[in-house]
Amino acid sequence: MSDQLSVVRTVAGLRKAVERLRAKGESVALVPTMGALHDGHLSLVRLARKKARRVVVSIFVNPAQFAPSEDFATYPRNIRADLRLLRKLNTDLVWAPSTSAMYPEGFSTSVQPGGPAHAGLEDTYRPHFFGGVATVVSKLFIQVGADFAIFGEKDYQQLKVVTRMARDLDLPVKIIGAPTMREPDGLAMSSRNVYLSASERAAAPALYRALKDAAAQIKAGKPISTALFSARERIVGAGFAIDYLEARHAETLGPINARKDGPIRLLVAARIGRTRLIDNIGV
Ligand code: PAF
Repeated sequence: MSDQLSVVRTVAGLRKAVERLRAKGESVALVPTMGALHDGHLSLVRLARKKARRVVVSIFVNPAQFAPSEDFATYPRNIRADLRLLRKLNTDLVWAPSTSAMYPEGFSTSVQPGGPAHAGLEDTYRPHFFGGVATVVSKLFIQVGADFAIFGEKDYQQLKVVTRMARDLDLPVKIIGAPTMREPDGLAMSSRNVYLSASERAAAPALYRALKDAAAQIKAGKPISTALFSARERIVGAGFAIDYLEARHAETLGPINARKDGPIRLLVAARIGRTRLIDNIGV
Protein backbone atom coordinates (compact mmCIF):
# COMPACT_ATOMS: atom_id res chain seq x y z
CA MET A 1 0.00 0.00 0.00
CA SER A 2 1.32 3.47 -0.87
CA ASP A 3 1.56 6.16 1.78
CA GLN A 4 2.41 8.64 -0.97
CA LEU A 5 -1.18 9.71 -1.68
CA SER A 6 -1.48 13.47 -1.45
CA VAL A 7 -4.78 15.30 -1.44
CA VAL A 8 -4.88 18.84 -2.80
CA ARG A 9 -7.74 21.27 -2.48
CA THR A 10 -6.66 24.42 -4.30
CA VAL A 11 -5.75 25.03 -7.94
CA ALA A 12 -2.36 26.42 -6.88
CA GLY A 13 -1.69 23.32 -4.75
CA LEU A 14 -2.73 21.09 -7.64
CA ARG A 15 -0.40 22.84 -10.08
CA LYS A 16 2.59 22.38 -7.76
CA ALA A 17 1.72 18.74 -7.07
CA VAL A 18 1.33 17.92 -10.78
CA GLU A 19 4.61 19.71 -11.52
CA ARG A 20 6.30 17.46 -8.97
CA LEU A 21 4.71 14.36 -10.52
CA ARG A 22 5.88 15.49 -13.92
CA ALA A 23 9.40 16.37 -12.79
CA LYS A 24 10.83 13.19 -14.29
CA GLY A 25 8.90 13.61 -17.53
CA GLU A 26 6.39 10.94 -16.55
CA SER A 27 2.95 10.62 -18.14
CA VAL A 28 -0.21 11.44 -16.17
CA ALA A 29 -3.70 9.96 -16.39
CA LEU A 30 -6.75 11.62 -14.84
CA VAL A 31 -9.83 9.79 -13.55
CA PRO A 32 -12.61 12.34 -12.97
CA THR A 33 -15.15 11.20 -10.36
CA MET A 34 -17.78 12.53 -8.01
CA GLY A 35 -16.54 10.24 -5.22
CA ALA A 36 -18.64 7.54 -3.49
CA LEU A 37 -16.21 5.23 -5.21
CA HIS A 38 -17.20 1.67 -6.09
CA ASP A 39 -15.52 -1.11 -8.07
CA GLY A 40 -16.54 0.58 -11.32
CA HIS A 41 -14.44 3.64 -10.43
CA LEU A 42 -11.61 1.44 -9.21
CA SER A 43 -11.50 -0.28 -12.61
CA LEU A 44 -11.03 3.18 -14.16
CA VAL A 45 -8.13 3.84 -11.79
CA ARG A 46 -6.57 0.48 -12.69
CA LEU A 47 -6.88 1.29 -16.38
CA ALA A 48 -5.34 4.72 -15.76
CA ARG A 49 -2.42 3.01 -14.05
CA LYS A 50 -1.86 0.87 -17.17
CA LYS A 51 -1.92 3.92 -19.45
CA ALA A 52 0.31 6.30 -17.51
CA ARG A 53 3.04 6.32 -14.93
CA ARG A 54 1.13 8.70 -12.61
CA VAL A 55 -2.56 8.66 -11.71
CA VAL A 56 -4.60 11.64 -10.55
CA VAL A 57 -8.18 11.10 -9.35
CA SER A 58 -10.50 14.08 -8.99
CA ILE A 59 -13.35 13.96 -6.50
CA PHE A 60 -15.86 16.76 -6.93
CA VAL A 61 -19.64 16.59 -6.73
CA ASN A 62 -20.31 19.14 -9.42
CA PRO A 63 -23.35 21.30 -8.60
CA ALA A 64 -23.50 22.57 -12.20
CA GLN A 65 -24.65 19.20 -13.52
CA PHE A 66 -27.59 18.81 -11.12
CA ALA A 67 -30.96 20.48 -11.64
CA PRO A 68 -32.50 22.04 -8.50
CA SER A 69 -34.95 19.10 -8.37
CA GLU A 70 -32.13 16.52 -8.44
CA ASP A 71 -30.07 14.81 -5.75
CA PHE A 72 -27.09 17.17 -5.33
CA ALA A 73 -27.68 17.59 -1.57
CA THR A 74 -28.14 13.89 -0.92
CA TYR A 75 -25.63 12.52 -3.44
CA PRO A 76 -23.50 9.99 -1.50
CA ARG A 77 -20.24 11.45 -0.20
CA ASN A 78 -17.59 9.53 1.72
CA ILE A 79 -14.17 10.99 1.13
CA ARG A 80 -12.47 8.99 3.90
CA ALA A 81 -13.56 5.68 2.41
CA ASP A 82 -12.67 6.99 -1.07
CA LEU A 83 -9.13 7.87 0.03
CA ARG A 84 -8.68 4.49 1.67
CA LEU A 85 -9.58 2.76 -1.61
CA LEU A 86 -7.40 5.05 -3.70
CA ARG A 87 -4.43 4.57 -1.39
CA LYS A 88 -4.70 0.80 -1.89
CA LEU A 89 -4.49 1.34 -5.65
CA ASN A 90 -1.36 3.48 -5.33
CA THR A 91 -3.05 6.59 -6.65
CA ASP A 92 -0.51 9.41 -6.77
CA LEU A 93 -2.72 12.43 -6.25
CA VAL A 94 -6.32 13.28 -5.35
CA TRP A 95 -7.73 16.59 -6.53
CA ALA A 96 -10.64 17.37 -4.20
CA PRO A 97 -11.54 21.04 -4.60
CA SER A 98 -14.24 22.77 -2.60
CA THR A 99 -17.10 24.27 -4.60
CA SER A 100 -15.59 27.73 -4.14
CA ALA A 101 -12.19 26.56 -5.42
CA MET A 102 -13.85 25.18 -8.56
CA TYR A 103 -16.38 28.00 -8.98
CA PRO A 104 -14.97 31.10 -7.25
CA GLU A 105 -17.23 34.05 -6.59
CA GLY A 106 -18.18 35.70 -9.88
CA PHE A 107 -17.63 32.55 -11.96
CA SER A 108 -19.58 33.14 -15.16
CA THR A 109 -18.23 31.01 -18.01
CA SER A 110 -19.67 27.78 -19.31
CA VAL A 111 -18.93 25.28 -22.06
CA GLN A 112 -21.99 24.31 -24.11
CA PRO A 113 -21.35 21.06 -25.96
CA GLY A 114 -23.19 20.16 -29.18
CA GLY A 115 -23.28 17.02 -31.34
CA PRO A 116 -23.79 14.00 -29.10
CA ALA A 117 -24.92 16.33 -26.28
CA HIS A 118 -28.07 16.96 -28.33
CA ALA A 119 -28.82 13.33 -29.21
CA GLY A 120 -32.22 13.37 -27.51
CA LEU A 121 -31.25 10.90 -24.77
CA GLU A 122 -30.05 12.14 -21.35
CA ASP A 123 -30.21 15.70 -22.66
CA THR A 124 -34.00 15.45 -23.06
CA TYR A 125 -34.51 14.46 -19.44
CA ARG A 126 -31.61 16.39 -17.89
CA PRO A 127 -31.22 19.49 -20.10
CA HIS A 128 -28.74 21.14 -17.71
CA PHE A 129 -26.53 18.05 -17.47
CA PHE A 130 -24.04 18.13 -20.33
CA GLY A 131 -23.38 21.87 -20.03
CA GLY A 132 -22.45 21.24 -16.37
CA VAL A 133 -20.34 18.21 -17.23
CA ALA A 134 -18.55 19.91 -20.15
CA THR A 135 -17.75 22.98 -18.05
CA VAL A 136 -16.29 21.06 -15.12
CA VAL A 137 -14.52 18.48 -17.27
CA SER A 138 -12.82 21.13 -19.39
CA LYS A 139 -11.73 22.87 -16.18
CA LEU A 140 -10.41 19.55 -14.84
CA PHE A 141 -8.48 18.94 -18.06
CA ILE A 142 -6.93 22.41 -17.96
CA GLN A 143 -6.21 22.23 -14.23
CA VAL A 144 -4.55 18.81 -14.29
CA GLY A 145 -3.04 18.86 -17.77
CA ALA A 146 -3.19 15.08 -17.97
CA ASP A 147 -2.10 13.11 -21.04
CA PHE A 148 -5.02 10.67 -20.67
CA ALA A 149 -8.47 10.87 -19.10
CA ILE A 150 -10.53 7.77 -18.33
CA PHE A 151 -14.36 7.76 -18.48
CA GLY A 152 -16.68 4.81 -17.93
CA GLU A 153 -18.87 3.53 -20.74
CA LYS A 154 -21.69 3.29 -18.21
CA ASP A 155 -22.30 7.02 -18.94
CA TYR A 156 -22.02 6.38 -22.65
CA GLN A 157 -23.44 9.67 -23.90
CA GLN A 158 -21.16 11.53 -21.48
CA LEU A 159 -18.15 9.63 -22.89
CA LYS A 160 -19.11 10.69 -26.42
CA VAL A 161 -19.78 14.30 -25.38
CA VAL A 162 -16.44 14.63 -23.61
CA THR A 163 -14.58 12.99 -26.52
CA ARG A 164 -16.20 15.39 -29.00
CA MET A 165 -15.53 18.38 -26.75
CA ALA A 166 -11.83 17.53 -26.30
CA ARG A 167 -11.48 17.18 -30.06
CA ASP A 168 -13.41 20.38 -30.85
CA LEU A 169 -11.45 22.46 -28.32
CA ASP A 170 -8.06 20.91 -29.22
CA LEU A 171 -7.60 19.90 -25.60
CA PRO A 172 -4.34 17.94 -25.50
CA VAL A 173 -5.72 14.92 -23.70
CA LYS A 174 -6.57 11.46 -25.01
CA ILE A 175 -9.98 10.27 -23.83
CA ILE A 176 -10.22 6.57 -23.03
CA GLY A 177 -13.50 4.72 -22.48
CA ALA A 178 -13.58 1.86 -19.98
CA PRO A 179 -16.10 -1.01 -19.97
CA THR A 180 -19.00 -0.94 -17.48
CA MET A 181 -18.46 -2.92 -14.30
CA ARG A 182 -21.44 -4.98 -13.19
CA GLU A 183 -22.68 -6.69 -10.07
CA PRO A 184 -22.82 -10.50 -10.36
CA ASP A 185 -26.50 -10.26 -11.37
CA GLY A 186 -25.70 -7.81 -14.18
CA LEU A 187 -26.74 -4.49 -12.61
CA ALA A 188 -24.34 -1.77 -13.75
CA MET A 189 -22.35 -0.39 -10.82
CA SER A 190 -23.41 3.14 -9.92
CA SER A 191 -23.09 5.37 -6.88
CA ARG A 192 -26.87 5.81 -7.10
CA ASN A 193 -27.56 2.07 -6.58
CA VAL A 194 -27.47 2.78 -2.82
CA TYR A 195 -30.82 4.56 -3.26
CA LEU A 196 -32.56 1.30 -4.24
CA SER A 197 -34.80 -0.44 -1.69
CA ALA A 198 -34.37 -4.22 -1.34
CA SER A 199 -37.26 -4.94 -3.71
CA GLU A 200 -36.10 -2.34 -6.25
CA ARG A 201 -32.57 -3.76 -6.08
CA ALA A 202 -34.00 -7.21 -6.78
CA ALA A 203 -35.88 -5.89 -9.83
CA ALA A 204 -33.04 -3.71 -11.16
CA PRO A 205 -31.03 -6.35 -13.12
CA ALA A 206 -34.03 -6.60 -15.50
CA LEU A 207 -32.62 -3.53 -17.22
CA TYR A 208 -29.39 -5.21 -18.29
CA ARG A 209 -31.07 -8.54 -19.06
CA ALA A 210 -33.50 -6.79 -21.40
CA LEU A 211 -30.65 -4.94 -23.14
CA LYS A 212 -28.63 -8.12 -23.49
CA ASP A 213 -31.53 -10.05 -25.00
CA ALA A 214 -32.40 -7.20 -27.36
CA ALA A 215 -28.77 -7.02 -28.53
CA ALA A 216 -28.75 -10.80 -29.12
CA GLN A 217 -32.00 -10.59 -31.09
CA ILE A 218 -30.70 -7.77 -33.29
CA LYS A 219 -27.48 -9.72 -33.90
CA ALA A 220 -29.59 -12.73 -34.87
CA GLY A 221 -31.33 -10.62 -37.51
CA LYS A 222 -34.55 -9.47 -35.81
CA PRO A 223 -35.67 -5.95 -36.70
CA ILE A 224 -34.49 -3.36 -34.17
CA SER A 225 -38.07 -2.24 -33.47
CA THR A 226 -39.19 -5.80 -32.61
CA ALA A 227 -36.23 -6.35 -30.29
CA LEU A 228 -36.83 -3.04 -28.52
CA PHE A 229 -40.55 -3.73 -28.20
CA SER A 230 -39.95 -6.90 -26.17
CA ALA A 231 -37.19 -5.23 -24.13
CA ARG A 232 -39.58 -2.41 -23.29
CA GLU A 233 -42.22 -4.91 -22.10
CA ARG A 234 -39.73 -6.68 -19.87
CA ILE A 235 -38.43 -3.47 -18.32
CA VAL A 236 -41.91 -2.14 -17.61
CA GLY A 237 -42.94 -5.58 -16.35
CA ALA A 238 -40.11 -5.39 -13.78
CA GLY A 239 -41.60 -2.17 -12.35
CA PHE A 240 -39.66 0.52 -14.23
CA ALA A 241 -41.00 3.64 -15.92
CA ILE A 242 -38.89 4.13 -19.04
CA ASP A 243 -37.49 7.56 -19.97
CA TYR A 244 -35.94 6.20 -23.16
CA LEU A 245 -34.87 2.91 -24.68
CA GLU A 246 -33.17 3.46 -28.01
CA ALA A 247 -30.87 1.98 -30.59
CA ARG A 248 -28.36 4.58 -31.77
CA HIS A 249 -25.26 4.77 -33.88
CA ALA A 250 -22.50 3.89 -31.42
CA GLU A 251 -20.26 6.79 -32.45
CA THR A 252 -22.55 9.68 -33.42
CA LEU A 253 -25.51 8.62 -31.25
CA GLY A 254 -27.70 9.50 -34.24
CA PRO A 255 -30.83 7.42 -34.98
CA ILE A 256 -30.32 4.07 -36.66
CA ASN A 257 -32.87 1.81 -38.32
CA ALA A 258 -30.95 -1.25 -39.42
CA ARG A 259 -27.95 -3.24 -38.27
CA LYS A 260 -26.11 -2.61 -41.52
CA ASP A 261 -26.00 1.13 -40.66
CA GLY A 262 -24.20 0.30 -37.36
CA PRO A 263 -22.24 -0.06 -35.11
CA ILE A 264 -25.25 0.03 -32.80
CA ARG A 265 -25.46 0.95 -29.15
CA LEU A 266 -28.62 0.28 -27.13
CA LEU A 267 -29.19 2.88 -24.41
CA VAL A 268 -31.76 2.97 -21.66
CA ALA A 269 -32.79 5.25 -18.80
CA ALA A 270 -35.57 4.16 -16.49
CA ARG A 271 -36.95 5.01 -13.10
CA ILE A 272 -37.85 2.63 -10.31
CA GLY A 273 -39.26 4.15 -7.13
CA ARG A 274 -37.29 7.37 -6.70
CA THR A 275 -34.16 6.12 -8.42
CA ARG A 276 -33.23 6.72 -12.04
CA LEU A 277 -30.86 4.19 -13.60
CA ILE A 278 -29.09 4.25 -16.95
CA ASP A 279 -27.36 1.48 -18.84
CA ASN A 280 -26.19 0.65 -22.36
CA ILE A 281 -24.72 -2.16 -24.39
CA GLY A 282 -23.02 -2.61 -27.76
CA VAL A 283 -24.65 -4.82 -30.39
O1 PAF B 1 -19.34 10.76 -14.42
C1 PAF B 1 -19.16 11.52 -13.44
O2 PAF B 1 -18.95 11.07 -12.30
C2 PAF B 1 -19.24 13.02 -13.64
O3 PAF B 1 -20.21 13.36 -14.57
C3 PAF B 1 -17.88 13.66 -13.97
C4 PAF B 1 -17.35 13.15 -15.29
C5 PAF B 1 -16.88 13.37 -12.86
C6 PAF B 1 -18.04 15.19 -14.09
O4 PAF B 1 -18.50 15.75 -12.91
